[in-house]
Amino acid sequence: MFSQPSQKYRPFPPVALSNRQWPSRVLTKAPIWSSVDLRDGNQALAVPMNVSQKLEMFDALVKCGFKEIEVGFPSASNTEFAFNRCLIDDQRIPDDVTIQVLVQAREDLIERTVESLIGAKSVIIHLYNSTSPAQRKYVFGLEKSDILNMAVRGAQWIKDRLHKLQGTKVTLQYSPESFSATEVEFAKEISEAVMDVWQPTPEHKMILNLPDTVEVAMPNVYADQIEWMCTNIKNRDSLIISLHTHNDRGTGTAATELGLLAGADRVEGTLFGNGERTGNLDIVQVAMNLYMHGISPNLDFSNLNGLREVYERCTGMTVPARQPYSGELVFTAFSGSHQDAIKKGLTAWEKQGGPWDVPYLTIDPKDIGREYSEVIRVNSQSGKGGVAYLLESEFGIELPKDLQREFGPLANDAVDQLGREVTAAELKAMFWKEYMERQQPYALKHFHADGTGGVFRCRASVFINGVETSLTGEGNGPVAAFVQALQENGTPSFEITSYKEHSLGAGAEASAISYIQIKLANGKTPWGVGVDTNIELASIKAVLSAVNRAVERTLGVIGAR
Ligand code: KIV
Ligand code: ZN
Repeated sequence: MFSQPSQKYRPFPPVALSNRQWPSRVLTKAPIWSSVDLRDGNQALAVPMNVSQKLEMFDALVKCGFKEIEVGFPSASNTEFAFNRCLIDDQRIPDDVTIQVLVQAREDLIERTVESLIGAKSVIIHLYNSTSPAQRKYVFGLEKSDILNMAVRGAQWIKDRLHKLQGTKVTLQYSPESFSATEVEFAKEISEAVMDVWQPTPEHKMILNLPDTVEVAMPNVYADQIEWMCTNIKNRDSLIISLHTHNDRGTGTAATELGLLAGADRVEGTLFGNGERTGNLDIVQVAMNLYMHGISPNLDFSNLNGLREVYERCTGMTVPARQPYSGELVFTAFSGSHQDAIKKGLTAWEKQGGPWDVPYLTIDPKDIGREYSEVIRVNSQSGKGGVAYLLESEFGIELPKDLQREFGPLANDAVDQLGREVTAAELKAMFWKEYMERQQPYALKHFHADGTGGVFRCRASVFINGVETSLTGEGNGPVAAFVQALQENGTPSFEITSYKEHSLGAGAEASAISYIQIKLANGKTPWGVGVDTNIELASIKAVLSAVNRAVERTLGVIGAR
């Protein structure tokens, strides 16, 4: 890299726009959308889609609610031509969907393009030629006037062939390609020259698409260019002003949103931003950005995972894990404080309803078919809140607060040692290992208690260091009787300080889970957990779990003789 980049690169000149309006406007409605997945997106694939893949994508786009779909460049290849014919001849285009085709300003290509459309109900013919100084100079070696004539000739060749499309509703579209790198005055001049040929009216408008073919400036500059065009071009009311942004500087979404503020009516883009280089605008992003502000995008992404699957299968591309809304990790919180905040926010929102107001989640993942269970996974940075949330949401294990404080750090240490994040099932296995699977030094074989008048007697058979031992005890409940039985048998003194139980699962499969905290003579307070179909046995197991943990983790004075 250069230490003085100005030796090689120059700043982008600002647009002379007085009385700029777009910064103080807000978006209140969705634009007209046009998907260019099957043309711009497809052109950028290492292996372009075949007809059946394009058909699958077309159906998926229709299902999302796209009413304008650029289906290809029919004069560019036989596959592209065949695809058009297949859509039309097999009547695969719903009545309310318009197909769009792209063509350069060449007579033979226009001829073939028109042929590809015969019999369609509604079409957009999209003519383009490149207009920027670099394209004029290096690619075409032509002056502005020649470039303008090229556009006018193309427009005329299309007009001359419209009689071949009788019975078809035809909308005409012109793009001064590389618009954002073109002088606005020349973009206006060439667009008006095309308008002179096509003669659009407020009743039969043409589409003027103003592409950010290569993103060369900040999004506010693109917005200025759009507002300048909307303000200065003649017969604005006969035009549908359309945006088509790419993402070379990473601000394709911003450029589109500011371009809409600047007065555009229509947006072209692709699903998940597929397209040349850094891609086209990701339409999902702009649509969902509107949605999160309470504006209906008129596109349905309720099953975004399903759509992503179709897209990945057909294009061979993958959606990056952090792509807004659609990426795999978008609704996953790794940091403990985020997890805790999400948990609190979700609980409050579920209770109170009202506008969505959950920290760290811009939308409810459910709205786009994502699951709450995807929200939190556990890594070594996850706090106790995240661990507890996962156990509760996945398995219905409702850890008491104080037990969360005990198990959270233990889980974090175990995950740290593994050096990776763990799944919910792995987390549960850790919990089971820590609390449920300890059989040393105490393992329960049998327990029975009965009582009257608040006095319970128990008989238990317990393996202590592998030796079966019979115990008896008395107390004001079965658990108290068992504690006394243990202590009668020489287990040093402890008392029960907390107790909680609830059912796990439902119906015949249901069991009970019991959480018991004991206090040792040295003040340590380990927890124990027991599960059984019998609630009494779950509690007895929880007592032994706490005692075994005290011994095995050498927390205190408990030692079996
Ligand atoms: O990026 C672009 O400029 C295009 C045009 C053909 C509209 O794709
Ligand atoms: Zn493009």
